[in-house]
Amino acid sequence: MFAVYAESCSADDPLAGLVVGERPDPEVPADWTTVEVKAASLNHHDLWSLRGVGLREDALPMILGCDAAGRDEDGNEVLVHAVIGDPAWRGDETEDPRRSLLSERYQGTFADRVAVPRSNLVPKPASLSFEQAACLPTAWLTAYRMLFVQGDLKPGQSVLVQGAGGGVSTALITLARAGGLQVLATSRDEAKRARALEIGAHQVFESGARLPARVDAVMETVGAATWSHSLRSLRPGGTVVISGATSGANPELTELNRIFFLQLRVVGSTMGTRDELARLVSFLDATGTEPLIDRVLPMTEARAGLAAMQAGELFGKVVFTR
Ligand SMILES: NC(=O)c1ccc[n+]([C@@H]2O[C@H](COP(=O)([O-])OP(=O)(O)OC[C@H]3O[C@@H](n4cnc5c(N)ncnc54)[C@H](OP(=O)(O)O)[C@@H]3O)[C@@H](O)[C@H]2O)c1
Repeated sequence: MFAVYAESCSADDPLAGLVVGERPDPEVPADWTTVEVKAASLNHHDLWSLRGVGLREDALPMILGCDAAGRDEDGNEVLVHAVIGDPAWRGDETEDPRRSLLSERYQGTFADRVAVPRSNLVPKPASLSFEQAACLPTAWLTAYRMLFVQGDLKPGQSVLVQGAGGGVSTALITLARAGGLQVLATSRDEAKRARALEIGAHQVFESGARLPARVDAVMETVGAATWSHSLRSLRPGGTVVISGATSGANPELTELNRIFFLQLRVVGSTMGTRDELARLVSFLDATGTEPLIDRVLPMTEARAGLAAMQAGELFGKVVFTR
C-alpha cells in the first residue's frame, strides 16, 4: 500500500530519511481492526521521529503519522485515538507506562490503511470534515487536556499561550477562547501575532515581552526559549502546564527559587484519554468551534508539509489527504 515512512533518522537532517513510497499492508492482531485513512494531520512528533527522538532504530522502517480520520471496516466515519495502551491497563490511558503513540511501536497513519485496537475508534462528528477531524487526536486533544484537565481552568481565568502558530498553540488559543478564558499569546512573528488575534486571543505579545498583568496559567510547548518568561508571567500560586519543548528541554535557568517562593505549580501533560477525545468532539459541536488548518496537501506531497513545519512557516495544522 502507499505509505510515507522513516527509513532512517538524522538529528541534523530529518527529511533525509523520509520516503514516500510503498509498505506492506498492516498486520492486524486480534481485537484490532483497520481504518481506511481519508485524512491524516502532521504533528511535530513526525519531525521528532525523523530526528530519532522517540523512534528506535530497530523499529525502522516506520510509517509516520499519529492522527487519522477515515472509514472503519463497516464503512462508519471514525477518528483514531493515537494512544495505544496495554489491554490489561485500567484507568487513564495516558498514565499507562506501556503506552505508545501510533508511529512509535506500531505503524502510523500516513498510509492507505492503519491497524488500531477497536477500542481506539471514536465516531467522527458529521459537523466536521475528514480534514478537520484529522486535527483532533493529537494537537487538539493535547490542548484540551492541558487547559481543562491538567490546567483545570475555569471561565473567566487568564491564560498565556506560548507560541501562536503551531498546531497545539492554535488549538490552545481557539479552545481557551471558546471556553470563556482571557487569552494572551506570544509569537516570534508579527504576522502570526495578528492571526492569533483573529482566532481568539484577546492580547498578543512578542516572545519574551513583559505582560501588563500576571496570568493564572501558562500553556508551554516551546520549552527552553520561553520557560523563564512563562515562570515570570505567572501570578503567585499560578500553574504552568507543559506538554512539549520544541526549542530544547534544558532551559538555561530553571528558577527553582521562583517556583517555591511564589508557590507555582508545574504540571506535565501528554495527549489525552479516549473519553477526553469524545468530550473534545462534543465541545467543538457545542461551541461551533473548528480546527484551524494551514494547508491541505495530498499525502504524496508529505515532504513539502514537513519542510514547512521544520521552517516554522505554519499557522495551524497541515493535513494530508488520500
Ligand atoms: N506531550 C504531548 O502529548 C504532545 C502532543 C502534541 C505536541 N507535543 C509537543 O508540542 C510541541 C509543539 O507541537 P506542534 O505539533 O504544535 O508543533 P508546531 O506546529 O511545529 O509548532 C511549533 C510552535 O513552537 C513555537 N516555537 C518554536 N520555536 C520557538 C522559539 N525558539 N521561540 C518561541 N516559539 C517557538 C512556534 O511559535 P511561533 O512560530 O508562533 O513563534 C509554534 O507555536 C512539539 O515539541 C511537540 O512534540 C507534545
